[in-house]
Amino acid sequence: MNWTAVCQLDEIPQGAARTVRAGDTVIALFRLSDDRVKAVENRCPHKQGPLAEGMVSGDDILCPLHNLRIHLDTGQAVPPEEGCVQTYPVKIENDQVFLSL
Ligand code: FES
Repeated sequence: MNWTAVCQLDEIPQGAARTVRAGDTVIALFRLSDDRVKAVENRCPHKQGPLAEGMVSGDDILCPLHNLRIHLDTGQAVPPEEGCVQTYPVKIENDQVFLSL
């Protein structure tokens, strides 16, 4: 797996997100309350809402546009909703956040 350093952990607000760009793709990095970091494409599968501006709820993100709930581990919309967003593996070493793109 090829890892790319994208930011420091403290550059992501706890319980919220920041975005990074990888080529033409914008990726939302979510820092959960226990400091785990999850990464998904910043584009809701419904109508491309900016997921990084949504509200974190446990291990889910609520899209800011129409409240689609997406599980951050799988990228899958929580049933009965449908849809899926690309997820990316994350690792943290010495407070540096790495993505596998
Ligand atoms: S764009 Fe995300 S729920 Fe509609």
